[in-house]
Amino acid sequence: VSLSQSQSHLRLKYFSLGVLVLQTTSLVLTMRYSRTLKDDGPRYLASSAVVSAEVIKILVCTFLVFKDSNFSVQAMKQLTKEEVVHNPMETIKLAIPAGIYTLQNNLLYVALSNLDAATYQVTYQMKILTTALFSVSMLGRRLGFYQWLSLLLLMAGVTLVQWPTESGGDSEHKVLSTGSQFVGLMAVLMACLSSGFAGVYFEKILKETKQSVWLRNIQLGLFSFVFGLIGLIMYDGQRVRELGMFQGYNMITCTVVLLQALGGLVVAVVIKFADNILKGFATSVSIIMSTLISYFLLEDFNPNRMFFIGAVLVIAATFLYSYEGKPASGITNNTQTSVKS
Ligand code: C5P
Repeated sequence: VSLSQSQSHLRLKYFSLGVLVLQTTSLVLTMRYSRTLKDDGPRYLASSAVVSAEVIKILVCTFLVFKDSNFSVQAMKQLTKEEVVHNPMETIKLAIPAGIYTLQNNLLYVALSNLDAATYQVTYQMKILTTALFSVSMLGRRLGFYQWLSLLLLMAGVTLVQWPTESGGDSEHKVLSTGSQFVGLMAVLMACLSSGFAGVYFEKILKETKQSVWLRNIQLGLFSFVFGLIGLIMYDGQRVRELGMFQGYNMITCTVVLLQALGGLVVAVVIKFADNILKGFATSVSIIMSTLISYFLLEDFNPNRMFFIGAVLVIAATFLYSYEGKPASGITNNTQTSVKS
């Protein structure tokens, strides 16, 4: 691997992690807003939004594969033949993460319909732990002492950041809706398991074979699209027949769908150039960001000492993880030896 190639890998790694932070922050805030917005008409169907996001991802990835084939239809055909038609098993393998991700994407709407954004985000951080455990068991990744320590620090930090303040209106809100709180919590916990497993499974596929991440994403997306459609028909079939698939869509819905599609694309890049555990840390940074936004822009949050200690812990954990984590996180195809450069 040449120096410039590994440098561009590094640049992509940090760029994609940065985009993921921004994307996660804006998605959580807009999705929660979209699920609680009181409007006259019917509310949009979450299962339909999941399918729409898949379609956008497939379109974007198809364009990117087309671009990588120098816009030659012939080359694209050849690629599809080699990778998909002649390699059905490799394609079918992606049905597993696709099914799990589809379930997860639907669960997140359930979660954000029942939990406030803060509670949702902190609980969803449990995925860092499930991801680490799956990375160790499925990828044989070995975490050093500092990495385990950083995971502990991270969990502690995230908990402190989210520690309820006494004056917060939120706790009142929580008491009022314990029933749906439980539903939301179960949804997030299941999503954590799914996120850890599907992410590591996809990473395994991506790093064991040479195919482009975009091609992989088309394969993944096609399965997800089919599963998502089945979900849409099963859960909301009646409503779709009455008012159509796009009932209740508005500008905010479209924003949520676009942000979710962007998320899928960025996650794929992050999994390729960084890894799943670093992806979890990006989400932690995003928690701090959304808290700061609600403080400075929405003025509905008063950071206390707990928040600052927590924030420092999370940032320290992020550095601590990559301090020893470089060799482990650099196993994209053949960059193992080049990380130092
Ligand atoms: O929370 P988590 O990071 O597990 O969310 C992953 C998201 O990225 C899911 O919405 C999933 O559908 C999407 N994804 C994707 N393409 C991939 C990997 C994940 O669209 N290759």
